[in-house]
Formats: sequence, C-alpha cells, structure tokens
Amino acid sequence: MPLEKPANDDVKFIPQGILDTEAYSDPGVLTTTDFAKIPDGLTSQQRINVKVSDEERLQYEKWIAKSGIYEDLYTNVPEKYTRFSYQLEEPNYKDETRDIHPFLTVGELSKRFENLIVKEKLSNYIRTNTTVVKVEKNSNKWVLTLRKYDLSTHSFEWYQEEFDAVVIANGHYSLPNIPHIDGLADYNKVFPEKLIHAKSYSNIDDFKGKKVLFVGNSISGVSLIQYAFPVAKEVLVSRRGPHIAFPWVNDAIASNGIKLKPTIEKFLPKENAILFSDGTKEYDVDLVVFATGYHYHFPFFPKDNEYFKVKNASNLSWVSGFYLDDFSIKDPTLTAVGLTVTHLNFSSIEASAAAIAGVWSNAKELPSNEVQEKWVSKRLEATGDNILFHYYKINEVKEGIIDQLLEFAPNGRNNPLEGGDQETKNLEAGFKSSEALFYKFKDGKLTLKS
Ligand SMILES: Cc1cc2nc3c(=O)[nH]c(=O)nc-3n(C[C@H](O)[C@H](O)[C@H](O)COP(=O)(O)OP(=O)(O)OC[C@H]3O[C@@H](n4cnc5c(N)ncnc54)[C@H](O)[C@@H]3O)c2cc1C
Ligand SMILES: NC(=O)c1ccc[n+]([C@@H]2O[C@H](COP(=O)([O-])OP(=O)(O)OC[C@H]3O[C@@H](n4cnc5c(N)ncnc54)[C@H](OP(=O)(O)O)[C@@H]3O)[C@@H](O)[C@H]2O)c1
Repeated sequence: MPLEKPANDDVKFIPQGILDTEAYSDPGVLTTTDFAKIPDGLTSQQRINVKVSDEERLQYEKWIAKSGIYEDLYTNVPEKYTRFSYQLEEPNYKDETRDIHPFLTVGELSKRFENLIVKEKLSNYIRTNTTVVKVEKNSNKWVLTLRKYDLSTHSFEWYQEEFDAVVIANGHYSLPNIPHIDGLADYNKVFPEKLIHAKSYSNIDDFKGKKVLFVGNSISGVSLIQYAFPVAKEVLVSRRGPHIAFPWVNDAIASNGIKLKPTIEKFLPKENAILFSDGTKEYDVDLVVFATGYHYHFPFFPKDNEYFKVKNASNLSWVSGFYLDDFSIKDPTLTAVGLTVTHLNFSSIEASAAAIAGVWSNAKELPSNEVQEKWVSKRLEATGDNILFHYYKINEVKEGIIDQLLEFAPNGRNNPLEGGDQETKNLEAGFKSSEALFYKFKDGKLTLKS
C-alpha cells in the first residue's frame, strides 16, 4: 500500500509572527508543538476530534515541520554510503557516465527507502500525518500524546498511547536556525517575500534575475549557490568563518563571480539596504537565503526536561544526557537515534539501532551511570560546548563511535563500516566529485534539465 502523502502547501517565507517575537533565535519560541493545545481531560481511553481553528499557529507548524530536503537535491557522499549494510548494491548506480556519479538524486534515494519499506512491510508500523505532541513518563510507562491531522475534514484527532520504551528519531534538520539580527522583523514587514530559510527553497525560479544574498557558507549555502549562480542577477555570501566539514566548500564560496561579505550587522528597511559588520551596505537585495543551519529540538518534552538537554542553541547546538549519543543516562528505556553528525549517517544510524536492539533484548548490558557520565564529560572536554560533541570526521567515526556502539549490538551483527584507508579514499574521492559538480552547475556546463 503506498504511503499517504501530506498536502503540498508548505509555508515559504519566514512567518512575521515568529520574527515579531524578537526571540526567533530561541528554538523554544519556534517549537512545533504546543502542550497548551492538548484537549482538556484527554485520557488513554478516548479519542477527541477538534476542528483546526488556529490557522496562524498551523502556518508556523508547517514552516517548521517541513524537512530541509528539496527536489533538486543530490547526495553528497558516494552511493555506497547511502544505504544500510544489509541493502544490496544497485548496479545501475555504478555507471560512471551518469552526470552525478557517484551520487544519487533525492528521488533515487527516496525510491531506495520506499523499496525497503515495501520489502520489510514497514508501512504496517508507520502512522503518517501523526505528530507526537508530548512524551512523559507515568510510573513505569511512557505515555505519548498524539495528534493525527485529517486532511479531508481539516481536523485533529487527539489520542494517547502507552509504551514500555521509546526511540526518539525526529531528526535535526527541520527547525531552522535564524540568527537574531537587528531590523530583521521590520525588514520582513516591509518586504514580506524577501527572506527565506534554505529549507524553503523550491526550484531555480526562486533565484531567476534576482540579487540573492546567502547567509552561511556551509553545505546548504553552497548547494543552492550552484543552482542560483547561472540564473541570478548577482550572488553574494555572508560568512562568519571558514567551513570545516567539507574543505572544498571554502574555495567554492570564494570562486569567480561570487561577492563575499562578512556577517550582517543590521537590516535597514527604510533604505532597502543591508548593513554588514565591515560598514559596507548592499542595496536592493531581492532575496536573502538563510542557509544558517538547524537546531536540535525535542518539542514533545518540556524545555527544562530531565532527559534531552539542548545546549548552545544555534546551528552549533548539542544534546547532553546521552551515552554514545544513544542511551538516556537518566532512563535506559529512552534512546535517541540520529544525534551523531558524520559523513556516514547510514553507518552511524545502523550502529545506533543495533546497540539499542542489543541492550533492549538483554543480549548486552549498559555500563554504570557513572561510566556513562564519564563518557559524556570526557567527550565534552575534547570538543567543547558545541556541535563538535556529536561530530566525527571520516577518519574518526569508526573508532570514535561506531565500534563503541557495536559492542552493545546483539551477537553476530555486522559492522556497517569496514573502515581503513579504502573507505577514506572513497569518501575523499566523493568530495572531489562534489566539488567538480559544483563548478559544472555553477558554470552552466550541467543544468538541472540534463
Ligand atoms: C538538505 C539536506 C541534504 C542532506 N543530504 C545528505 C546527503 O547527501 N547524505 C547524507 O548522508 N545525509 C544528508 N543529509 C542529512 C540527512 O538528511 C540526515 O542525516 C538524515 O535524514 C537523518 O535521518 P533521521 O531519520 O535521523 O531524521 P529525518 O530524516 O529528519 O527524519 C525525522 C522524521 O521524524 C519526523 N518527526 C519529527 N518530529 C516529529 C514529531 N513530533 N512527531 C512525529 N514525527 C516527527 C519527521 O517528520 C521525519 O519524518 C542532508 C540533510 C539536509 C537537510
Ligand atoms: N546533499 C547535499 O548536497 C546537502 C545539501 C544541503 C545540506 N546538506 C546537509 O544538511 C546538513 C545541514 O547543513 P546546513 O548547511 O544547512 O547547516 P550547517 O552546516 O549548520 O551550516 C550553517 C551555516 O550558517 C552559518 N551561520 C550561522 N549563523 C550565521 C550568521 N549569523 N552569519 C553568517 N553565517 C552564519 C554557519 O557558520 P559557522 O560555521 O560559523 O557556524 C554555517 O556556515 C548537513 O549535514 C549537510 O551535509 C546536504
């Protein structure tokens, strides 16, 4: 049975109501869910239907819940690293004459997931259009409050359900990080269709004939610039420092024809201008793209909850309280998958899931809380209070996290990452391919049509 697809009525521009809070850089303000909306007296014995009434609130939610994936996207690690170790190689992707070899388009990657879902009959376990609004521990059970959106009646069905254990896998590339900048809210009032976050990019029509300023010089910025450059009137990039994860990005951002700017000091709506920290101004910018990353967020727990402690709110945020990025130190029946940041997401996510299976099936046992806490403090000492806590370079990820997680996997599990020089060479060759593709798109030698 095909999965039910959500309605395609995404909210593109940053909602004015969010900017007017002047606290829009605080993920708590941007939270997707709202405990206050839970119908009074909801219990696990009943289901309550509520007509959607707060349209403005729903606009915010749509803007936040939309994933950062867009139609023109292609992957940035070689094909082998965008499948789980138990998924077979697909020979057609070995074809080196493919324009985007060794990568996949987002459609091809989605197909890979769809095939897995069909093969393993996973849709029996997936509830679409259903938001987890609250997660709480009630004696020895986790009680989840859920809200299903009914597209035909434009109503919510609220219900609760109990579980013995919970895996949080809500991703961390949807809640946009919008840095607080003076004048931003007023600028948006005067020019309501000039400010977008990279997650709201639709297609190259967004850039045609425009003077476009990208804020942020990481992968989202560079990925969109390759499409913007051939069609835009002018491309500018505001950056605050060098990019570290993909070294080629620094040259790409500074390449021929792109105007580099420092950080933005202030938006000046009356002058239709943007002031930068070096005192320069840019006038008549048609579109500002905040390619400024995302926050970790767990809106279904109260802000000051005892499990997920999000530190340093920004694109550099990190989450404290989890052993090996996986097990809540506070409660071993709560786990997280996907906190780790690597170029090898499929391998780290597979190892994470295997470790949870090992511990929850009682095949393996976690060390004492003291040992778990020590792991966190040692890592924090090495990385500092920022996202590097979760980040592993290609030559660190195997020993740094994957092998450690697999010690908790059920006996007989394969290690998803062979490791060694060959893996590093494959990934480094991938970086070269990303770089070459960037210039092919930027210089018009490759177009989205081709
Ligand atoms: C633009 C972009 C391009 C990327 N390209 C690559 C790439 O080329 N290669 C690569 O390896 N990685 C890439 N990544 C990273 C990759 O997308 C993530 O590592 C991966 O999606 C993480 O998987 P996940 O399942 O943890 O989270 P996600 O894929 O984000 O999935 C989280 C799911 O949880 C759901 N959810 C969230 N909150 C709730 C809630 N309250 N109730 C119910 N459901 C909820 C969401 O709807 C979503 O379905 C890219 C990311 C972005 C943004
Ligand atoms: N497959 C693909 O091609 C593709 C495309 C897009 C995204 N992705 C993935 O998506 C994930 C998120 O990437 P991302 O680029 O969206 O986020 P990101 O890596 O967190 O980058 C955010 C960028 O914004 C900058 N920034 C933050 N505040 C700023 C400010 N006030 N002024 C100027 N710059 C500011 C950051 O600078 P600092 O470095 O100084 O913090 C950084 O350059 C990554 O895993 C990436 O690999 C992949």
